Amino acid sequence: MKNDEFIVVRLEEVHRESGDTTTLTIPYKLNSKPGQFVMLWLPGKGEKPISISGEKEGKFQVSVCAVGPFSEAVSKLKKGDKIGFRGPFGTHFKIPKDSTSLAMVGGGYGSAPLSYLAEEATAQGKKVYFIEGARTKARLLFTERMKQAGAEVLLCTDDGSEGPKCYSPDVLKTVLETHKIDKVFTCGPEIMMKKVAELSKEAKIRCEVSMERYMKCGIGICGQCCVDDIGLCLCTNGPIIPGDLALEIKEFGSYHRDSTGKKV
Ligand SMILES: Cc1cc2nc3c(=O)[nH]c(=O)nc-3n(C[C@H](O)[C@H](O)[C@H](O)COP(=O)(O)OP(=O)(O)OC[C@H]3O[C@@H](n4cnc5c(N)ncnc54)[C@H](O)[C@@H]3O)c2cc1C
Ligand code: FES
Repeated sequence: MKNDEFIVVRLEEVHRESGDTTTLTIPYKLNSKPGQFVMLWLPGKGEKPISISGEKEGKFQVSVCAVGPFSEAVSKLKKGDKIGFRGPFGTHFKIPKDSTSLAMVGGGYGSAPLSYLAEEATAQGKKVYFIEGARTKARLLFTERMKQAGAEVLLCTDDGSEGPKCYSPDVLKTVLETHKIDKVFTCGPEIMMKKVAELSKEAKIRCEVSMERYMKCGIGICGQCCVDDIGLCLCTNGPIIPGDLALEIKEFGSYHRDSTGKKV
């Protein structure tokens, strides 16, 4: 498939997850890997990068959280509606061949691509500790899917409504202190990922983070997703990058740029 080629298909299934998240099942064989994204297109609403949250049997999934005009329009789609996309794009998570135990730390819709990764890892016989935090129990995503995949699911919430009242990096810290973990993967709010990358570095454990920035072309042409001050282009050199590299990026965990390039 050429990078600039749009595919348009009809949605096979639309599933409302907890919170404001909707999962779309798209009947197309992408040959994606966990961590990669597609540029999803809704005529009249534009095009946005969205991580792939699963792929099997000639279908792939994306899970979109309704926060603004594009994502709200996506969440109103119904089975049989048309959707456009191009991709898959970007780097992917890498499961080391020599690993036995992996920890994954997700938050918000970041748990979607991590679910895809966890399913691949357990299918390869790896032990997976899937750590997820949310504000409340009602906002936890994909926990049943992870249990079915055979992952050990460790939950926490800000209000204590499910699991301990703490943040997911606190749970990771305990896991790293009590188990032999070969690699850590994280996707979610940047403040959380920064803490996860720091903890992994301290423990001398390999780590990969999914670093997202406002994207326009998705294929390394427009420069919109380049980060201060090492100039890494996150649509092609990312979104999945080593935790140590993320910690070298000045804006990681502190600011990003909007569609006009203004710091937010
Ligand atoms: C590589 C990559 C992968 C992505 N994967 C996903 C994915 O799997 N699922 C998904 O839902 N989105 C994903 N996004 C984000 C997505 O591209 C859009 O930014 C998001 O859908 C919001 O677009 P919008 O036009 O609806 O709202 P916008 O107008 O862009 O945003 C509306 C408001 O919400 C804020 N906002 C934007 N995103 C969030 C957020 N996640 N949480 C809270 N507030 C937010 C904005 O700052 C703004 O104030 C990904 C982005 C990248 C770069
Ligand atoms: S979005 Fe255009 S270069 Fe990355």
